[in-house]
Amino acid sequence: MRPPLDSGTVLITGACSGIGREIARQLAHRARTLVLVAHSAERLAGLRAELEVLNPTLGVMLLPCDVSRPGEVGDMLAELSRHFISVDVLVNAAGAGERGLFARQRWGSIERMLLVNVVAPLLLVRRLLGPMLARGRGGILHIGAGAGQLFLPGAATYAASRRCLDGFIESLRLELEGTGIVLTQVAPGPVDGSEPQDDGERQGPQPLFHISAERCAREALAGFERGAALVYPGRAHRWVMTVLPRLPRAVRRALGRRVARDLQERSGAEAALMAEKPLGLVEDIPSLA
Ligand SMILES: NC(=O)c1ccc[n+]([C@@H]2O[C@H](COP(=O)([O-])OP(=O)(O)OC[C@H]3O[C@@H](n4cnc5c(N)ncnc54)[C@H](OP(=O)(O)O)[C@@H]3O)[C@@H](O)[C@H]2O)c1
Repeated sequence: MRPPLDSGTVLITGACSGIGREIARQLAHRARTLVLVAHSAERLAGLRAELEVLNPTLGVMLLPCDVSRPGEVGDMLAELSRHFISVDVLVNAAGAGERGLFARQRWGSIERMLLVNVVAPLLLVRRLLGPMLARGRGGILHIGAGAGQLFLPGAATYAASRRCLDGFIESLRLELEGTGIVLTQVAPGPVDGSEPQDDGERQGPQPLFHISAERCAREALAGFERGAALVYPGRAHRWVMTVLPRLPRAVRRALGRRVARDLQERSGAEAALMAEKPLGLVEDIPSLA
C-alpha cells in the first residue's frame, strides 16, 4: 500500500524551511496541490514562487498559522473546508527545540515545545484522519527525531516530546492497519538546512552524522512510499540508532551522565546560580493552585 502522493493534496507543516521545505520541493512534480503551513507568510510566498517555477500546473495554497495555538489550527482547517479541499496526505514537519538545563528553561519555551511537537500533530491527525478513513486512503508522514529514543541531558523536554509522539505513532499505526492509511515516522539525527548559505557557512567537511535536508526528505519520502513504520535517515545515524536503543539502560545512563557532567561544567556560572536557588527560580512557572 502506497500513500496517495501522486496527484494528491498534501498538507505540509513547517514548510518554509529545512526538511518541510525540501519535502515540498520534492513533491512539486508529483502532488496536485500543496497546502503549505508555517509562521511566516512572507517566506511561504517565496516558496510558492519557487514551486510554481518548478511546476506551473501545481496548485499551491498558503496557510500561515502558528501551530502552537490550537485555535489558529482550527481556523486553518476551517479555511480548507471553505475551499472544499480535502487532504490526502499530512506531513508534520513543524518542530520546536531548545537546548538548556531543564531547571533553567523558561516555562514559555517548555510549553511551546509541547504545543508544537505534541499537541499540534495530534490535533492535525485527529481532525484529518476521519475524512481519510471515510475515503479508505490517506497518509501521514511524521517528522520526529532520534532524540525520542535517547537519554538527552540538555534537551529533556525536547526528548520527552519526541518520545511521546513515538508512542503515539507506533500505537496509532497498529490501530490503522487495514484501513488504507499509511503512517510513517521519521527520526532524523542532525540535519543541515535547505538554504544554500547553510552549506556555504560550513567550515571543513560535513560531520559524520550530519545529512542535508534534501537527503533527509528523500529518504523520508522513500520510506513513506514503501510503508515503513520508522525511518532513520542517513547511514551513520541509522547505524547508531539501531545499536544505541538496544544497549542496557544502565549503559545508556552512564553515557548520558558524562554528557550531563560536561554540560554542567560548561555552564559553571549557571550551575552555581542553580545551587544558590534550586528550582522555583524561573519566575514564569505558572502556579498549579
Ligand atoms: N534539523 C535537525 O537537525 C533536526 C534533527 C532531528 C529532527 N528534526 C525535526 O525535523 C522537523 C523539521 O526540522 P528542520 O530543522 O527542518 O526545521 P526548521 O528548519 O527549524 O524549520 C521548522 C519549520 O517549522 C515551522 N514552525 C516552527 N514552529 C512553528 C509554529 N509554532 N507554527 C507554525 N510553524 C512553525 C517553521 O516556520 P517559521 O520559520 O515560519 O517559524 C519552519 O518552517 C522538526 O520537527 C525538527 O524538530 C530536525
